[in-house]
Amino acid sequence: MAKVLIQFAHPALSKSKVHKVLMSYCKNLENVTFNDLYELYPDMYIDIDREQELLLQHDIVVFQHPFYWYSAPAIIKQWCDLVLEHNWAYGTKGTALNGKKMLNVISCGAGKDAYSSAGHNRYPVRQFLLPFDQTANLCKMEYWPPFVVHGTHRIHQDVIVQHGEQYRYLLQALANDDISSDQLRQVEYLNELA
Ligand SMILES: Cc1cc2nc3c(=O)[nH]c(=O)nc-3n(C[C@H](O)[C@H](O)[C@H](O)COP(=O)(O)O)c2cc1C
Repeated sequence: MAKVLIQFAHPALSKSKVHKVLMSYCKNLENVTFNDLYELYPDMYIDIDREQELLLQHDIVVFQHPFYWYSAPAIIKQWCDLVLEHNWAYGTKGTALNGKKMLNVISCGAGKDAYSSAGHNRYPVRQFLLPFDQTANLCKMEYWPPFVVHGTHRIHQDVIVQHGEQYRYLLQALANDDISSDQLRQVEYLNELA
C-alpha cells in the first residue's frame, strides 16, 4: 500500500463549508496522514526537518486547500520555499522525492464554465496549477490530476457530502494502487475516476 500525506491549508477553517466536510472524510483513514499546516504553524515558522521527514515516510503528497487568487493559501508557498531544499528535493544531489506523486485537492468559488477560454477566468484550472505540476517535475515526482470542487459559493450541503465520499474513495483507491497511470493520464480531474 502507498502512504498518503495530506498537506492541508485553510487559513479560516472556522468559516469553511467545503473543507470542513472533505476533512471529515479523509481523517482516520488507514495509510493517510493528515497534516494541518495552519494549525501547526500559525506564525508560518515551518519545522523543515519534521516536514522533510514526513515526506520521506510517504509516497503520495496531496496539497488540500481552497483556491485563493488562482493558487494556494500563502502557507503552501512558504512550505515549498523552505522544505523543498536544493540538493534535497532538486538539484544534482536532490533525490529525496524521486518517484513520489503529487496532486492538489481544491475548492473553487467559480464553476467549471468560468475556467475556460470563454469564461471569466479565461483558463482551465489545470493551467493555474502548472507551478505545482512543474515543481513536481523538478523534484522528479509524478504530478497527478487534481480533485476539484467547483461552485462553492452556491453549493448545497448534499453536493459537498457527495464530494467528500468521492474524495475518500479516491484516496483509498490511490493508496491501494487501484488506479493506473494510464487512467490518470486520460482525465482532466481526478473526480472523473470516482
Ligand atoms: C482570499 C480569497 C481568494 C479567493 N480566490 C479564488 C479564486 O482565485 N478562484 C476561485 O474560484 N475562488 C476563489 N475564492 C473562493 C474560495 O476558493 C472558496 O470560498 C473556497 O474554496 C470555499 O471553500 P471553504 O468552504 O472550505 O472555505 C477565494 C476566496 C478567498 C477568501
